[in-house]
Amino acid sequence: MLHAIAHIEFNAINLALDAAWRFREMPDEFAGDWLRVAAEEAGHFALLQGRLGALGFGYGDFEAHDGLWRACMMTDHDALARMALVPRVLEARGLDATPAIQHKLAGIGDRDSIAVLDIILRDEVGHVAIGNHWFHVLCRERNLDPVATFRQQLAEHDIGSHRGCYNLAARREAGFSEAELAWLQTPPDSLAH
Ligand SMILES: [Fe+2]
Ligand SMILES: [Fe+2]
Repeated sequence: MLHAIAHIEFNAINLALDAAWRFREMPDEFAGDWLRVAAEEAGHFALLQGRLGALGFGYGDFEAHDGLWRACMMTDHDALARMALVPRVLEARGLDATPAIQHKLAGIGDRDSIAVLDIILRDEVGHVAIGNHWFHVLCRERNLDPVATFRQQLAEHDIGSHRGCYNLAARREAGFSEAELAWLQTPPDSLAH
């Protein structure tokens, strides 16, 4: 599990650097935000590498998936799609998943890993907030309704809402609106695309 998270953080470094580099038409603040995120992701990766090392393993010892990098390529044509699908879906899912992972780690008494995940969760709220900020900036610029545009992005890229618990407190802190949180929690059958 720690290896899987380390792999996510490793990809997140590259994803943040990719956003800063690829969407050069965006204001300097955009690049600055994602460079800061990249530095924090590198910090997260280092913390997890430390935990893996303490347990006798290292990054690369287990298989890993390429879901995050696929999301990077899928959204390489448009900063709005990138903001919608990477920070607002993938990183936001990290907010949702972290408390349950910490609960599991508590079951085996791994306090050090729980402490690492506390840092990651705190920083990730900031990353999702940055994604939310720029998503809304781009929607305003293009005269698009943010909620409808987000739904459209999910539908276009065939991404369903997930069924697990939502970390509503963290998502609120990261700037999700009440309307969006209500919509996300609607059972998939009744989701209107
Ligand atoms: Fe991270
Ligand atoms: Fe992140």
